[in-house]
Amino acid sequence: MRTFDGTAVERAGACAPPLSHLRRPFALLYFGTIAVRQSKEGALMSMIKKPPEPKTEPGAGVSRRGFIRDVSLGTGALGVALTPGEARAAAPALRGPGPVPVTLTINGKPHKLQLEPRVTLLDALRNYLDYTGAKRVCDRGTCGACTVLMDGKPVYACSILAIDAQGKNIQTIESLALSPQPDPLIRAFVNNDGLQCGFCTPGFVMAAKAFLAENPNPTMEQIKRAFGGNLCRCGSYNGIRRAILEAAKAAQGGKNA
Ligand code: FES
Ligand code: FES
Repeated sequence: MRTFDGTAVERAGACAPPLSHLRRPFALLYFGTIAVRQSKEGALMSMIKKPPEPKTEPGAGVSRRGFIRDVSLGTGALGVALTPGEARAAAPALRGPGPVPVTLTINGKPHKLQLEPRVTLLDALRNYLDYTGAKRVCDRGTCGACTVLMDGKPVYACSILAIDAQGKNIQTIESLALSPQPDPLIRAFVNNDGLQCGFCTPGFVMAAKAFLAENPNPTMEQIKRAFGGNLCRCGSYNGIRRAILEAAKAAQGGKNA
């Protein structure tokens, strides 16, 4: 066959179509470009470094993947290592639902009781120990009629389990009757008509004891704000506030209650 410039060319086998002969330079160029690109990409890929494996050694920080792996391994190991009996033995001891021994220290005196764990401190006081000074009104931590002091802090006895009050020093309104002289707070409540039905009074008096211990010289404004957790359905608030102020002044050596 002949090329365009007329040169005769010998070909082995079947003759290639003239068109393919025409396309040869383009094909060479095309495949050459691909080859160069692939070799460049290969070189480029070999230059790109793999990201380092996340560190999981102790103290080197914890990766998310390592954390999930370790947790699943640990969980699996636990499941394999513990029989149901061992798992029960390892769990914290359950108490109840029947009565369990409970010791409460009320006004400095220890009392041993058998109580179901669901019994509240208020029920333990009123129904098992005959300390009926703390009153049950709302029984849901709203009114403050059940206020007692636990290690000197005012708490709602209706909202604390007796079993959780063990080891604490519980002070009730009855403790104020133990001294031969009436407590200045009680005298101040009487002097200022700080009660009508009196149902809220033990809670107010115990809350006032804790308040005055921390605020020996309060203003009337501070007293108004401090007793928001105690409600009086008879509306004796003015008398109650005056009583607390008078008790504070008496303790400071001012006007004698
Ligand atoms: S009876 Fe406890 S807060 Fe009302
Ligand atoms: S005096 Fe009756 S509820 Fe306060």
